[in-house]
Amino acid sequence: MNFPTNVFSKNATFDGALSIAGIKATTLAKEFSTPLFVIDEDDFRSRALAWKSALEKHFGAQAGHVYYASKAFISVEVAKWINEIGIGLDVCTGGELAVGLAAGFPADRIEVHGNNKSEAEITAAIAAGCATIVLDSFHEIERVNRIAGAHNVIQKVLLRLTPGVEAHTHESISTAHEDVKFGFSIASGAAWKAVEEVEAAPHLRLAGIHSHIGSQIFVADGFEVAATRLIEFLARFRDHFNRELPELDLGGGYGIAYLADESTMDPDQMMANLAAIVKSQCAAHDLVVPTVSIEPGRAIVGPSTTTLYEVGTTKVVTLENGANRRYISVDGGMSDNIRPSLYQAEYLAIVANRESTESTRDSRVVGKHCESGDIIIRSIELPGDVDAGDLLAVPATGAYGRSMASNYNHMVRPAVIAVKSGTARVIVRRETVADLLSLEVVESPRTLS
Ligand code: LLP
Repeated sequence: MNFPTNVFSKNATFDGALSIAGIKATTLAKEFSTPLFVIDEDDFRSRALAWKSALEKHFGAQAGHVYYASKAFISVEVAKWINEIGIGLDVCTGGELAVGLAAGFPADRIEVHGNNKSEAEITAAIAAGCATIVLDSFHEIERVNRIAGAHNVIQKVLLRLTPGVEAHTHESISTAHEDVKFGFSIASGAAWKAVEEVEAAPHLRLAGIHSHIGSQIFVADGFEVAATRLIEFLARFRDHFNRELPELDLGGGYGIAYLADESTMDPDQMMANLAAIVKSQCAAHDLVVPTVSIEPGRAIVGPSTTTLYEVGTTKVVTLENGANRRYISVDGGMSDNIRPSLYQAEYLAIVANRESTESTRDSRVVGKHCESGDIIIRSIELPGDVDAGDLLAVPATGAYGRSMASNYNHMVRPAVIAVKSGTARVIVRRETVADLLSLEVVESPRTLS
């Protein structure tokens, strides 16, 4: 078999069967059951480090933080890895913050996002001492200022701006054009008004601006346009207030390979491009280069993880045009990977437990949920003899897989295990039916008025 190394984690090998970090996929499936998320710890760490090194190499003294976007996937163990590597953590809910804090993550490297932070979330962030809160609306300017005042602190904030960029990606994950719920629009004047309000707020210290243009982006021009407009904005701020804002956060969104003919964005190349633009635009406006931060999520965790499924049933259906389609049903589905249904995202799969010499046939890999849209892979060539009991491996499922998992059809969410140099350990255990039943409440009706 032509093993597609570009989509598998660095320590995945195929030698008659798939192994990850020296452990056979069949052994992992036997030991931990399926569906199973297998995270290659060294792969994760090396990608996180590569983004940090690239930022530092190209921005030098102006390198801020790589904030790992925890929405892609977070657990206490992963937060510890991030901390050990010395990068920051981007959280966008109280839940993500709680995981970071439970891992002992230093609050001075936590950045708080979200377009609708509750008072409780703002309070938790300020009480924990989170270094940066990224403000997303006028309501939040008032709330964060008030809550910071109540805690007797001056909170460092960034303003999330929408620079009006059409990123080349799926509409649902494109975030910086005008008609979106995020941030303050530069074009409409909202961004400038927000600056004035923050400057007048006694418990806020405006350190800079932020934008995140979208996710799974490969074309650099979106980042370039965003950076150019943000730097114009920094110059306008300097002209008006006679001081320079020291921080610029350019968000995440760097694309990764899901298919054999795709390639994952190279951190060094990406940071070289970004640094060139930031430096030339700052020079054009006679600005000191600000401290630049980024927020990759997918590009760190996505390629590190492989999902293992067991095939349960197969069937062949005859289509209207007389052609046959083979359905291969696995023991998970849209509850552990909603991305194909939600964004028409494409994945590949390989047979992980053996090498087949059978010729391939067009196949559709589907889950076990009660709807036809429960598709993992719409069309893929897989060996003709794939059958019940075979193990399928779907690579590059680390980002927005387990983190967007659901209990649809009362499926339990899969375990995540970390593998490293021939060792394996559970970092998030598999849910049980008892977990699900533990939410059920039998309560006498209470009269409320
Ligand atoms: N920073 C901010 C403010 C974000 O909103 C996001 C992602 C990131 C950073 C990280 O983006 P990344 O480097 O992972 O592309 N569920 C979708 C992706 C949604 C992304 C939401 N925000 C998917 O499965 O494709």
